[in-house]
Amino acid sequence: MSGETPFERVGGRETVDAIVEAFYDAVAADAPLRAVYPDDLAPSREKLALFFEQWLGGEPRYSERYGHPRLRRRHFPFVIAEHHARSWLTHMRAALESQGVTGDEFEAIWGRLEPLAHHMVNAHEDVPRDPLPDDAWLT
Ligand code: HEM
Repeated sequence: MSGETPFERVGGRETVDAIVEAFYDAVAADAPLRAVYPDDLAPSREKLALFFEQWLGGEPRYSERYGHPRLRRRHFPFVIAEHHARSWLTHMRAALESQGVTGDEFEAIWGRLEPLAHHMVNAHEDVPRDPLPDDAWLT
């Protein structure tokens, strides 16, 4: 596909939404990974779609609503082990492939996503576990 940004090249908002949908369906069916998430998956689903659009070069919809992602900090309330990161990546790879993100486009995205997922691992660290409010950036 053509386009200036990865966001456009993968197919825009429709594709990103479908990737996130497929990803969270897989998370819902993966008991150990599912256990890390809150009961209601809808808010994280919506936030990931906004974030992905921005991260792939689309409109900065996540930051417009929630400020700087501070992604690692926002994950501190959730105890994430190395095996969670591996499962997360397995489901995300399948979700990307299911929406036709392959070849060079996949490799470029994967090269950024894989280290980011491992960076979220915090299980054996003494980090603050209190949640960051959605409007923390306003204060
Ligand atoms: C490594 C394994 C990961 C696990 C187990 C994990 C788990 C979680 C959990 C439990 C939440 C909170 C959901 C909620 O509060 O409703 C969350 C939020 C989020 N995750 Fe992850 N995550 C992982 C990696 C990633 C990666 C690699 C990215 C980015 C590419 C990402 C992007 C996000 C975003 C944008 C949010 C919403 C943050 C917010 O505004 O509160 N996550 N994740």
